[in-house]
Amino acid sequence: MSAAGKNSRQPPVAPPCAMVIFGAAGDLTKRLVMPALYNLSCSGLLPKNFAVIGVDLVQQDAETWQKTLHDFLISSLKKGGEGTEPGEVINEQAWKRLSDSMSYMPGNLSDDAAFETLRDKLEEIDREKGLGGNVLFYLAVAERFFGPTVEHLGRAGLTVEEGDSWRRVVIEKPFGHDLASAIALDKQVLSVLKENQVYRIDHFLGKETVQNIMALRFANGLFEPLWNRDRIDHVQITVAEIVGVERRGKFYESTGALRDMVPNHVFQLLAMTAMEAPAAFDADSIRAKKAEVFTSMHQLSPGDAVRGQYAAGTINDAPVPAYRDEPDVSHTSVTETFVAMKLGIDNWRWAGVPFYLRTGKRMSKRKTEIAIRFKEAPFAMFRDTRVDALGDNWLIISIQPEEGIRLQFNAKRPGPTLTFERVAMDFKYDDWFKQAPATGYETLIFDCFIGDATLFQRADQLETAWKIVQPVVDDWAAHDAAFPNYAAGSAGPEEANQLLEREGRFWLPI
Ligand code: BG6
Repeated sequence: MSAAGKNSRQPPVAPPCAMVIFGAAGDLTKRLVMPALYNLSCSGLLPKNFAVIGVDLVQQDAETWQKTLHDFLISSLKKGGEGTEPGEVINEQAWKRLSDSMSYMPGNLSDDAAFETLRDKLEEIDREKGLGGNVLFYLAVAERFFGPTVEHLGRAGLTVEEGDSWRRVVIEKPFGHDLASAIALDKQVLSVLKENQVYRIDHFLGKETVQNIMALRFANGLFEPLWNRDRIDHVQITVAEIVGVERRGKFYESTGALRDMVPNHVFQLLAMTAMEAPAAFDADSIRAKKAEVFTSMHQLSPGDAVRGQYAAGTINDAPVPAYRDEPDVSHTSVTETFVAMKLGIDNWRWAGVPFYLRTGKRMSKRKTEIAIRFKEAPFAMFRDTRVDALGDNWLIISIQPEEGIRLQFNAKRPGPTLTFERVAMDFKYDDWFKQAPATGYETLIFDCFIGDATLFQRADQLETAWKIVQPVVDDWAAHDAAFPNYAAGSAGPEEANQLLEREGRFWLPI
C-alpha cells in the first residue's frame, strides 16, 4: 500500500533506473533482495528500462553470479522458502527479463577506485539503456560499511541529482547500535545525502498485514472511536520466533534481542497501532504522525524491562541447544535472546494505557501479533445471575504466520440458563485474497523506484526510538544477568509474566 499508488487512480509505473547492489554475493541479496526483484518481474512491475549492477568483493563474473541466484531461487521455490508455496516452479521468462538486466562488478568498498569504475559503468549503461540518470544504491552490506560507502558515493559524484534525475540510497538495519552511534551514522549519511534520498528499510513494514493496520484503522469508521484510553485497557505486541540465532552467532552476540528487534520492528508495529490519523495519505503526513508517537513516549525505565536467554529445550518434539552452545557464541554469554517491556505514550489518546512488548528467539511458536484488550462493560448487569465472570474483549491483529484479524466477545450459550461463552469473529487474509508470493521486500523496493518514502524511517524517528531504549541498554551493560532463564520452546522467563501480573494483567498465550 503505497501513498503514491493511492493518490492516482492508475497504478504507478516504475521509471527507468539502474539499481546497484553492494553486497551482491551476500546472504541478504540471495535470500531476499533478488527473490523480491524476481517476484516484481513476475508481476510485470520492474522498470521497463532497467539495469542491476552487483558489486561485491568476491571475484566472479556475471554468469556465475546469476547462476548462484537462479539455483537458490529454484531450490527455495521447491522447498517453499520465504514467500513461496512449496513445489512452485520458476517462471523462466520472468527470470530472463531480470537476468538480462544484470551485470556484475568485483569491487572493494574501501577503495575509491571501485567507485570511479562504478561511475564509468553506470554512465555507459545509462547511455545504452536510457535510464535517465536514475540510480538506486542498495547497501546490502554489514553496518560498518554504511557510512563509508555513502561517503565514497559522494566523493565519486554519484549522489548528485541532475535535472529530474534521482539518486537514492537504501540502508538496511541496524541503524546504529545505540543512540550515539545512530546519531553519528545519520550525521555521516546526511553530510552527503539529503534526507529524501535516504530510504531506511525496516522489512516489517513490507508485510501486508502491517500495512493493513492503517487500512483497518483509517478506512473504517468502526474502530477508531474505540481506539483510545476510554475503551482500551492495554495493548500487547508479541514477536515470537521459533528460530534461534542460526548462523548469526557472531552478529547476535554483540546485538541481542533488544537492539535487533525493538527500536526497529517492534516499535514500527507500535507506531502503526498508536499513531494519530494523518491529514493526508502521503509520506510526509504519515511519517510525521508516526514520529509523534515516539516523541510522546517516556524513556524506558530498567524496572519496566525484562531480559532472558534460552537454555536447551524442546521445540516441535526436537531437542534444541542452549544459546550458549550455539556456534560462535560464548559459553558464558550474557546476551539476551528475549526481551519484554512496558511502555507508555503520553498523549490524550493513550495516557494511562500500557503497551506491553515482548520478543524472543526459540519460543514455543512463531507468532507476531498485536492484541488490544478492551475495558470491561461499565456496568455489571449480570452480577445477580449465574454468570460470574465475563470473558475479555480482544481485537487481535495477526501478522504472521497467520494473517488476519480476530474480534473476541461474549455470547450467550444456547439453552434456558444464562451462561456466556467467549466467541470470535475471524477475518483471515487467505479466505478473501489470493496473495502473490512475496518476501516483504517487493513493496519496499518498488516504493524506492517510485520515490514513495511512506514505509521508510526518518532519521529523527530512529534516533528517538534509540533514546527511548537507551536507559535499559546502559543498565543491562552495567549489570550481569542470571542466564539462562527460560527453556527453549517456552513462552520466555517467568519475570516476563510478573511484569503484567503485578498490574493484574496477563499475556495471551503464544
Ligand atoms: C531481522 C532480525 O531483522 O528480523 C532477525 O535481525 C529476525 O533476528 C528477523 O529473525 C525476523 O524477521 P521475520 O520477517 O522473519 O519475522
